[in-house]
Amino acid sequence: MKLWINGDWVPGARRVKLHNPYNGEVLAEVGYASVEQAELAIETAATAFESFRSVPAHKRSSILYQVADLLERRSDEAAHIIALEAAKPIQAAQAEIARTVQTYLFAAEAARGIRGETVPMDAAPRGEGRTAYMTREPVGVVSAITPFNFPFNLVAHKVGPAIAAGNTIVLKPAEQTPLSALFLAELFEEAGLPAGVLNIIPGEGKELGETLVSHPRVAFVTFTGSPDVGKQIRAMAGLRKVTLELGSNAPLIIDRGFTEMELAKIADEAAIGAFAYNGQACISVQRIVVHEELAEPFAKLMAERALALQTGDPLHEGTAITPLINEKAADRLKGWLQTAVERGAALHCGGEFKNNLMTPAVLTGVPEDAELSCEEAFGPVVAISSFTDWREAMEQANRSRYGLQAGVFTKDMEKALMAARELQAGGVLINDIPTFRLDHMPYGGLKDSGTGREGVRYAVEDMTEPKLVSFRSGFYE
Ligand code: SIN
Repeated sequence: MKLWINGDWVPGARRVKLHNPYNGEVLAEVGYASVEQAELAIETAATAFESFRSVPAHKRSSILYQVADLLERRSDEAAHIIALEAAKPIQAAQAEIARTVQTYLFAAEAARGIRGETVPMDAAPRGEGRTAYMTREPVGVVSAITPFNFPFNLVAHKVGPAIAAGNTIVLKPAEQTPLSALFLAELFEEAGLPAGVLNIIPGEGKELGETLVSHPRVAFVTFTGSPDVGKQIRAMAGLRKVTLELGSNAPLIIDRGFTEMELAKIADEAAIGAFAYNGQACISVQRIVVHEELAEPFAKLMAERALALQTGDPLHEGTAITPLINEKAADRLKGWLQTAVERGAALHCGGEFKNNLMTPAVLTGVPEDAELSCEEAFGPVVAISSFTDWREAMEQANRSRYGLQAGVFTKDMEKALMAARELQAGGVLINDIPTFRLDHMPYGGLKDSGTGREGVRYAVEDMTEPKLVSFRSGFYE
């Protein structure tokens, strides 16, 4: 596979084999961009911006509508790519494509809805005789660096808003999932996106990353990944605008007062939130804080659900648990699990490893300062703790360096309102798991979960600059 620069397929500076995480088979040889090729892609995007910034909103919108349509028509093919290169179970991969179609539709709508406002100049005595408005202009070249876990939809959350706003893009997809990103080039080409507006350069390494973040012609950096890399990007970006979506160890709080059936229903959802795609999502349920009256039965329900999940081939319908993305991820989780158990945690089920596949694990009694409580696991594991008082539940949930989304199950309105007020997160979902996301919701975090918001319309706003235009009348009289 080659790089996509200026509407052409260009050989990479070197070729790297891409392996299927499930069976190790070679899926493709992928061209990796050199620093010089990254610079070329940025210069190309900067040149394309000179004309693309004037392409009218209805045309940008129409391109995005067409991409949504083309993707929908090729959804089986696209889902297959995700299942192969990310080892995502095929049903989850299909669900991701359905969401990606929605994301491009939202972007198409957002392109036609970019608005400024009038500025009441005469609100100040010196403003009399002036009429002004604020309009929104595209920022310019956007560097987008995307993760492996949603290789279509998290790319769409950067590419869709950038194009809706009239920007041009250089996209560096995750090393594990370049094929999904490169597939997109075909769709945008067919939809008539002008050459150079979207450039896709698989690659790796610090220097490549630095080029994408600090090249003088890059105006905006949007990144989804780890807090460590996010902080480096922030430090390198200077005065550029940045959006950083950096993960979490999402809490779910469960109040007292649920019947057996209701608790089982909550456990069904919590298990999906914790174990879908092996917990490899930034908003996977990781910490479950349950009222002490229900903590024990709830742990049992979670273990039953974890044990019922089928492991194996991502391409088989019905498979839920597949290998983690790589050996490094598996080794890290193995170590964290071992430490937690050595320090007194009870392992109710799972936590067995077969190569990189980890069976879903349910733990109680994990020490607060163990990695499984305070770091982002990004794996199929939940740590259940208990509380007696609602305020204590809030405190436990907030005891994290992250703050992306939090879920709460309670029938008590006062408690729900307190949770909405007190929980330190970009989103609080009442009677839902924190893993719930619609693609037009504002999405982003506090603390180490990052800065800025995605959710199409919010990203479009971030990817534009307000400009004031003022008309003075009567000057020549
Ligand atoms: C993420 O991992 O940040 C994305 C989760 C989602 O879009 O559902």
